Amino acid sequence: MDVFRIEGPVRLSGSVQINGSKNAALPIMAAAILAGGKSTVSAVPNLSDISVFSRLLEKLGCRVSRNQQGHVCIDSTVIDNPVGEYDIVRKMRASICILGPLLARCGRAEVSMPGGCAIGDRPVNLHLRGLQELGAQIHLKNGYIVAEAPSGLTGKEIFLGGPFGSTVLGTANVLMAATLAKGRTTIESAACEPEIANLADCLNKMGAKVSGIGSPRLIIEGVKRLHPVEFEVIPDRIEAGTFMVAAAITAGELALRNCRLSDMMAVVDRLRNVGVTVEPKDNGCVVAGSFPIKPADIITQPYPGFPTDLQAQFMVLLSLANGNSVIIEKVFPDRFMHVAELNRMAADLRKEGPVVIVAGVKKLIAAPVMASDLRASAALVLAGLAAEGTTTINRVYHIDRGYEKIEERLNPVGAKIAREQA
Ligand code: EPU
Repeated sequence: MDVFRIEGPVRLSGSVQINGSKNAALPIMAAAILAGGKSTVSAVPNLSDISVFSRLLEKLGCRVSRNQQGHVCIDSTVIDNPVGEYDIVRKMRASICILGPLLARCGRAEVSMPGGCAIGDRPVNLHLRGLQELGAQIHLKNGYIVAEAPSGLTGKEIFLGGPFGSTVLGTANVLMAATLAKGRTTIESAACEPEIANLADCLNKMGAKVSGIGSPRLIIEGVKRLHPVEFEVIPDRIEAGTFMVAAAITAGELALRNCRLSDMMAVVDRLRNVGVTVEPKDNGCVVAGSFPIKPADIITQPYPGFPTDLQAQFMVLLSLANGNSVIIEKVFPDRFMHVAELNRMAADLRKEGPVVIVAGVKKLIAAPVMASDLRASAALVLAGLAAEGTTTINRVYHIDRGYEKIEERLNPVGAKIAREQA
């Protein structure tokens, strides 16, 4: 297992290219199941989660490769084993998004029921309810979700909201299944995340009839078949947000290339609120930070609200503000594994249920810390850039799931991050 040793504090300055979005790429790769043939997806980041997902598709019968331009090619001509195995699903919960497309294509799917993870319980009841509404028979067998629709699926009006609002992958599953259902499906309280809009655009390019894209009401007119596609994934707004905080927390200046500010208005609003400058430039932006950082309150919400996937990173930034901030987690109320680790670095964080009160401190101090999940680990990297001394982060594989070679991208702009084998 690799560890990071991070020397701080540093000031970042320069330019960074933002990669394609992991969370858009995964359901788009799953969409390739819907149409037999060769699809090509470009701007897919080279991440361990993508490799795991490729293996999952291969187990179904697909052939997956990267071509010389780095595009991911998926040949889904043959799908002869519509089973999402426990060994893969337990590594990556996003595997659940093969359920809808497999059911629509094969009339049957078995996918291991995902368990909880470091950020909470993460049920899939809404995914299952949505597919049942489309006519699927679903039961649980030996830890596997078994979904069957031998005579196909039928369109329906479906309300997909849950206690925490919309569901991103639940929307992806029902949307993909509905493209091949008989008649019209309406998904009310659909997720509006740009990754879902990107998926819907991809489905339309495959021949689907989806309207209302980007809104909470998706309307899908079922079609008989879809065809393979060439499609490009949108830039990763969470990676961009993480690098924005890196610029801000080091009082540095970073130009981010390939970054869509229009997908990040809540994030840009919070950054400007604490005194960070964010200016659009070419196909990206320039972010400049300076001290003092002002305190601010953050409430995570489904899109277009502030993303839960940037909560941990902003907690680090607000730790260095000149006053008290409040962070309320309304999407994953238990997503606070980073709190205790940041307190080990001399942050002053107090957790009360889904709320963290952040008392600003003058400086963070390096310490050995443990990465727990992807975004919490990214937050520890940010803390390491700003803290005095050498921060050691264990279990770096969590970071590698969602950030491609983060040290090779931050070191050229002034970071001092060494990857070592533990
Ligand atoms: N929920 C239910 N029932 C369901 C599904 C979800 O109650 O059937 C609840 C969840 O427990 C949570 C809320 O609804 O409280 C939202 O969860 P959602 O289903 O939207 O999460 P997800 O689709 O499983 C995706 C991202 C996550 C991101 C969330 C929220 C991917 C692969 N994953 O997960 O990304 O945090 O949406 O935006 O797209 C990450 O990249 O680090 C990550 C965890």
